[in-house]
Amino acid sequence: MRTLWVAGCGSEIAKALIEHCQSQNHGQAQHQTDQTAQSIRVISSGRGPDSAASAHCQTDTREPHSVAELQAFIRREGTPDAVIVCNGILHDQHHGPEKSLRDLSADWLQHSLQSNVISHIHTAQALAPFIKRDSQLRWLSLSAMVGSISDNQLGGWYSYRMSKAALNMFIKNLSIEWQRKAPHCLVAAVHPGTTNTGLSAPFQQNIAAGKLYTPQQTAQRISDVLLNLQPEQHGHLLHWDGRVLPY
Ligand SMILES: NC(=O)c1ccc[n+]([C@@H]2O[C@H](COP(=O)([O-])OP(=O)(O)OC[C@H]3O[C@@H](n4cnc5c(N)ncnc54)[C@H](OP(=O)(O)O)[C@@H]3O)[C@@H](O)[C@H]2O)c1
Repeated sequence: MRTLWVAGCGSEIAKALIEHCQSQNHGQAQHQTDQTAQSIRVISSGRGPDSAASAHCQTDTREPHSVAELQAFIRREGTPDAVIVCNGILHDQHHGPEKSLRDLSADWLQHSLQSNVISHIHTAQALAPFIKRDSQLRWLSLSAMVGSISDNQLGGWYSYRMSKAALNMFIKNLSIEWQRKAPHCLVAAVHPGTTNTGLSAPFQQNIAAGKLYTPQQTAQRISDVLLNLQPEQHGHLLHWDGRVLPY
């Protein structure tokens, strides 16, 4: 793998991923392996990268104009070998996850879909014309276990659950379309595990001991999932340890 894109690089998991891949590169270079990306391109929708990524495209992937901007970036920087899309939102200053139907609003659902699904769609649409038949592209979208319909025992969190379920269906469709186009391409969604970031901060009090992970632990695990991605994982929602989860 030569070039990795980390999209949605404003997220804390994304920042840890970038740092992890950069530190791996230094170690890997000494060991003469070619396992990790030699260069990292980051895609952000507002805040630039803190770390020294090789190249940075700032465009709001929730918006359709980002497709053309990402394509100009690809023509300048080349096609990536792997992509990890981290964009996602659970709450903001004014909205928390819904406890019941009466809390659900069309506006917040729409906003959730923009971050949790549409940003992933625009990133894929930008890349699609550059995928050739011999492509071995690896794609991971950060999803969430709570987007699994069959795993939903508790209800609530309507907008987040619905938008992550929609993301999972997008990944399933994308995996089918891209495998027809490029039989060696691998596409999956991944549940990163509950990670100590702004996204989970208001909901950490009931997490069992040892089940809240640092962004660094999560970055290591997602990187491992990416590097070890297998054809039998293609089109699935994966746990951070690589197990296939039910949709
Ligand atoms: N943390 C968890 O426990 C957990 C569990 C399951 C799934 N996930 C998924 O993992 C992905 C990454 O999540 P995360 O935990 O790393 O989330 P995070 O740090 O809270 O970031 C989530 C989003 O919020 C925006 N954001 C973050 N910091 C911001 C700031 N200072 N100002 C303005 N906007 C800011 C970013 O949007 P922009 O990129 O557009 O700037 C980012 O995509 C998401 O898709 C999430 O659903 C996380």
